Amino acid sequence: MIGAAGCAPSQTRAAEGDRPEAPDGAWQRVRDEFALSPAWIHMTGFLLASHPRPVREAIEALRRQLDENPVDALHEHDDTSPVREAAAAYMGVRAEEIALTDSTTMGLATLYLGLPLKAGDEILTTVHDHYSTQESLRLAAERTGASIRKITLYDRASAATAAGMAEAIAKALTPATRVVAITWVHSSSGVKTPVRAIADAVAAANQGRTPEERILVCVDGVHGFGVDDVTMADLGCDFFAAGCHKWIFGPRGTGVLWGKAELWPRLRPSIPHFGEEGYKAWMRAQPAPPTNANMMSPGGFHSFEHRWALPAAFAFHRRIGKDKVAERIHALNRRCKEGLAGMKHVTLHTPLDDGISAGLVCFEIAGMTPVAVVARLREKKIIASTAPYATSYVRVAPSLVTSEADVEAVLREVRALA
Ligand SMILES: Cc1ncc(COP(=O)(O)O)c(C=O)c1O
Repeated sequence: MIGAAGCAPSQTRAAEGDRPEAPDGAWQRVRDEFALSPAWIHMTGFLLASHPRPVREAIEALRRQLDENPVDALHEHDDTSPVREAAAAYMGVRAEEIALTDSTTMGLATLYLGLPLKAGDEILTTVHDHYSTQESLRLAAERTGASIRKITLYDRASAATAAGMAEAIAKALTPATRVVAITWVHSSSGVKTPVRAIADAVAAANQGRTPEERILVCVDGVHGFGVDDVTMADLGCDFFAAGCHKWIFGPRGTGVLWGKAELWPRLRPSIPHFGEEGYKAWMRAQPAPPTNANMMSPGGFHSFEHRWALPAAFAFHRRIGKDKVAERIHALNRRCKEGLAGMKHVTLHTPLDDGISAGLVCFEIAGMTPVAVVARLREKKIIASTAPYATSYVRVAPSLVTSEADVEAVLREVRALA
């Protein structure tokens, strides 16, 4: 399986400490591609990626090239098509539909501040969305006069249902709604929203609307991207922003913003693009051409060795297989959730159902603050995190960088906190 994936062991971890030999040889070879400290159990891979070997090597080669001759390197890689093509192949879309960003946040702000909103328009979003969505929307509303309506998709995360979430959105659409701004996987609770069902409900509401009145479904996809085996067509949304430096294991400071080809001309960049389209028109004192995805990639120089190395991360995932990645992450998360669900002193907030959860597990322990739980786990060399939301839970993320033994260690230490 993974052997065929071409992820041959290269730099085996120096020492596995007292951890038992993993029975999952193929997945061990995947884990061996990371230079993570074996002193820790890394349950927070979802925050910021450790670069796997192929990504490290690609970055290093490009860094050398840039250090030897920055200008020639710049000219050689001027055309970002290879990066956009790699992302497009992974996402099942066309390269021309992708803007390159530095993060999820940059993608969301680029999108929401670029939309043609005006006073009287309504943005429908939810109380579950991350700071990056909510603040981008607030800034967009402030500038355009559009209003924001925030709804609840579920009262208790553990009792959320796909039908209930889609229905909540469907019911909240009004003739003034122009944007539905949602997050694929909530990093507050681990709930995965039914993007397809929401997009279908919006499509029904769009019947008979003019293109300008059409409601756009915009998604912060970062915690499903690199986890679930879907294409953009499967999701059915209009725009999708994600950083590539979390589950994709891309170079830190990389991200993508995808949108349907026909929608890009409706957007306006906030940061001038450095590609041919805009620059040529400016040099000739001509009006800017209609906006396309490339023109929505914020310009200026970037940490280019990271941006240009991004294809290595998509190749890493595709060599393993998107289906195998999804299966593996879900299996480890199921094991973790089922273990936690059986403990009396634990309240598991993430649904057990694979259909509405992904790679994040959120929980609380009776009588302890989430901060205290994370601190106690750190004493046992387990890195967990607290969710940066008004209501905060403990988060762990079993992923490709963790093993069954790591999940069992988390369960053992949580059990010991009873
Ligand atoms: C749901 C969600 N969206 C966006 C972000 C920010 O991502 P980035 O660092 O890529 O901007 C985070 C957290 O890091 C998140 O949890």
